Amino acid sequence: MTSVKYDLDETIRSRRSVRGFLPDRLVPRKLLIEALELAQRAPSNCNVQPWRVFIASGPRCQRLREALCQAVLSGQPGRPDDDEADRFEGDYRRLQVECAVALYQEMGIQRDDHAGRARALLRNFELFDAPHVAIVCMHRSFGRVVALDVGMYVQTFMLALWARGIGSCAQGSLRQYPDVLRRELGIPDDLRVLCGVSFGYENPDVPANRCRQGREPIEHNVTLLE
Ligand SMILES: Cc1cc2nc3c(=O)[nH]c(=O)nc-3n(C[C@H](O)[C@H](O)[C@H](O)COP(=O)(O)O)c2cc1C
Repeated sequence: MTSVKYDLDETIRSRRSVRGFLPDRLVPRKLLIEALELAQRAPSNCNVQPWRVFIASGPRCQRLREALCQAVLSGQPGRPDDDEADRFEGDYRRLQVECAVALYQEMGIQRDDHAGRARALLRNFELFDAPHVAIVCMHRSFGRVVALDVGMYVQTFMLALWARGIGSCAQGSLRQYPDVLRRELGIPDDLRVLCGVSFGYENPDVPANRCRQGREPIEHNVTLLE
């Protein structure tokens, strides 16, 4: 019997970010290796396969969670490896706000609820209670073009997990504390942290998991020329 639940279209269509996991239900190693082997098939420029990935599971993941939360709660300023923060304006800003509103609505957080928003942000560093987190890096010398390859890797990984009934959430927020990630996971200095991916089995009782993000019609993004 295969462990795969969906075909490709259905996997792509149904995948969504999961922001609440069952902390004690580890992903069987066989399924994790299957997903990693599929992700390894991601295309990359000249096939250099630039992704470098550190996966913390069980107690190691718990230790990282505690260290990240301590950094946030002690007011330690974040210092991402690259400080080129993207600014969203106009239509991009509209979509960013719609995304946050959809999520906060499910979490019962109002616009002016600063404590609620801080709590929602902290959930990122609690890794949404996940028993696993992947920290995705690439060599420091690489820039945006190579980062494209790593993005393809991350999507392939998340789809391979989802097809096996395993939820995940990509997390740019984890870029805030590369020093903590390096110290806890032994990530070498010559790697730049791009994002995290918390993953595991979904906790259906977490309100954030009711969130469904829409998409613009394709005309918004694609110009078809004849
Ligand atoms: C590179 C990347 C970074 C992201 N960072 C975060 C994050 O830090 N926290 C979070 O809750 N979601 C994060 N997300 C998830 C997006 O909010 C989510 O993919 C988007 O709203 C679409 O929703 P869906 O994944 O449920 O379809 C990230 C997604 C990507 C691709």
